Amino acid sequence: MTDVNEDAQSGPCPCCQDKTQPEARPSEGRRSLLKAVGLGALASVLPALSGKPARAAAEPADMTTQIGDQLTRFQQSRRGPSLVLDDIKMSSKQLLVLPKDPETGIVRENDRRNQILLQRFPMEELSEQTQAISADGLVAYTAVCTHDGCPVTAWDRKTDTYMCPCHQSQFDPRNMGTLVAGPAYRPLPALPLALDEDGVIRVARDYTTPVGFGTKI
Ligand code: FES
Repeated sequence: MTDVNEDAQSGPCPCCQDKTQPEARPSEGRRSLLKAVGLGALASVLPALSGKPARAAAEPADMTTQIGDQLTRFQQSRRGPSLVLDDIKMSSKQLLVLPKDPETGIVRENDRRNQILLQRFPMEELSEQTQAISADGLVAYTAVCTHDGCPVTAWDRKTDTYMCPCHQSQFDPRNMGTLVAGPAYRPLPALPLALDEDGVIRVARDYTTPVGFGTKI
């Protein structure tokens, strides 16, 4: 039996989604910014010397998921508040969420790669490797199916796995998003999580593998 994630149902139809192939790893934007910090003074002088306008920094809403980001619900009517551990019921279906910039509170909603599956399990149900990237049993994976890019919004109750509604690939959230059935090419990339001192869920590190679909990733 297959359930469709309720929060995901308010999202765009999988068949109509933009299937643009990702070009960068999730935290590339922040890395670039960090690298630019040391060169800030020089960067501000160069445009004036060349007569060209300075390139605008990326808007938070356009950026891919960043280390340190908080998470908020994808569902439009509930989007905004940062999720804490107690918001996620143990062993309930995956929740579709988006990252948000912790400094401005702006939700990074303009890049489809930012759609994330969030779920919580008893720690002892997780594989050793999954425990290492979990925060108190919380696990997160990209919602972008590695087969053809559809959002992985369904849950298969028989096998206790994520189910992609487009061609029925199944992924195991308790074991690093391992592919257990279907035509997808590889596991779902996992997103390591942490809890801050206020119990707010944060992105701890880059995805374990690049987010994207098809055979060229
Ligand atoms: S797009 Fe997910 S199984 Fe084909």
